[in-house]
Amino acid sequence: MDRSLAGRRADSEDFKPAQNLYRQLSQRLIGQPEAVEAIVPYVQIYQAGLAPAGRPAGVFLLLGPTGTGKTKTVEALAEVLHGSEKAMLKIDCGEFQLEHEVAKLIGAPPGYLGHRETQPMLTQAKLNLASSERCSLSLVLFDEIEKAAPSLTRLLLGVLDKAILRLGDNTTVNFERSLIFLTSNLGSSAMLKELKPVFGFESAVPRNLEGVGGKLESIGVHAARRKFSPEFLNRIDRIITYRPLDQQALAEILDHHIEEFRRHVAARLGPRSFDVDVPEETRQVILQKGASLEYGARELKRTLHRHLVQPLAALISEGGIQPGACVRLRFDPERDCLALDACTTPAPVRQ
Ligand SMILES: Nc1ncnc2c1ncn2[C@@H]1O[C@H](COP(=O)(O)OP(=O)(O)O)[C@@H](O)[C@H]1O
Ligand SMILES: [Mg+2]
Repeated sequence: MDRSLAGRRADSEDFKPAQNLYRQLSQRLIGQPEAVEAIVPYVQIYQAGLAPAGRPAGVFLLLGPTGTGKTKTVEALAEVLHGSEKAMLKIDCGEFQLEHEVAKLIGAPPGYLGHRETQPMLTQAKLNLASSERCSLSLVLFDEIEKAAPSLTRLLLGVLDKAILRLGDNTTVNFERSLIFLTSNLGSSAMLKELKPVFGFESAVPRNLEGVGGKLESIGVHAARRKFSPEFLNRIDRIITYRPLDQQALAEILDHHIEEFRRHVAARLGPRSFDVDVPEETRQVILQKGASLEYGARELKRTLHRHLVQPLAALISEGGIQPGACVRLRFDPERDCLALDACTTPAPVRQ
């Protein structure tokens, strides 16, 4: 493949998805403006043809509490750049906790047991598949990097430094056209400890988290320094600490989930589809049940599943919903639970 600078010129198609990149990414990644602001310039530098040769186009370490959007960041960027959240090369580092498992990434050397059977996970072909006609930049995600065996971080050193990975069969993979993301929960329990006394042990989700960013960042960077060698950290372009999501961010994420579900119903059921209405009051109840400082937005989708998708499926299978009907998820204060009402009146238009 042409790895020369000329081969890295900005092709005109590359510019299209970059337009409004800030806006598109912020619409999908809620409440993490620092992350958006840190990442977008690296995409733009790549697309302008100005990324340095002999290095990945950008290397990011994403830190912060669970369920705040670290993995979602790469999914959102994949959707914006390539049209699908799945368009990335994702390595779940939890699968490489033992030294010998790391060999699965690069394949065994010739002559070793299993050489023919092991298909390395990190090949040039797989990396190229993570790009698209729209954009030649591949997104590579090493998810939950703190779980990986130390040999994986050693392997990564060469990738982060020279954009080159040597495989077991002695061929190389070039990462110059890649953005590499490492995510980690390192320091997140210390971050929660820092937040709890401020917001109280009982507090579910604070209304406003202004002003805690700097403190959390220093906890994150400290934890990363304890875990990784200086030479490893020096090869990272940006360390980004995600903030816990406040009520407003969680409410917005819930709105997205509900919208996505309504579209899913319409697309999947076609002529049999119906509208789903979730009034504001119900959304507040779901937020109370599904959002916490510890798990961020992680529980929201599950809560929605339990209280909306499951009862809805039961109602459909009992023949309780007419095509074109409106189904409302209502909070029943007397029984202190959520209930589904199927009616034929159309749902009010939500702003
Ligand atoms: N900032 C966010 N913006 C939009 N959705 C989010 C955000 N944070 C979490 N979510 C939702 O919660 C789920 C879990 O978040 P994830 O990014 O996997 O968390 P983590 O920070 O632990 O990697 C995502 O799939 C997404 O639906
Ligand atoms: Mg994650």
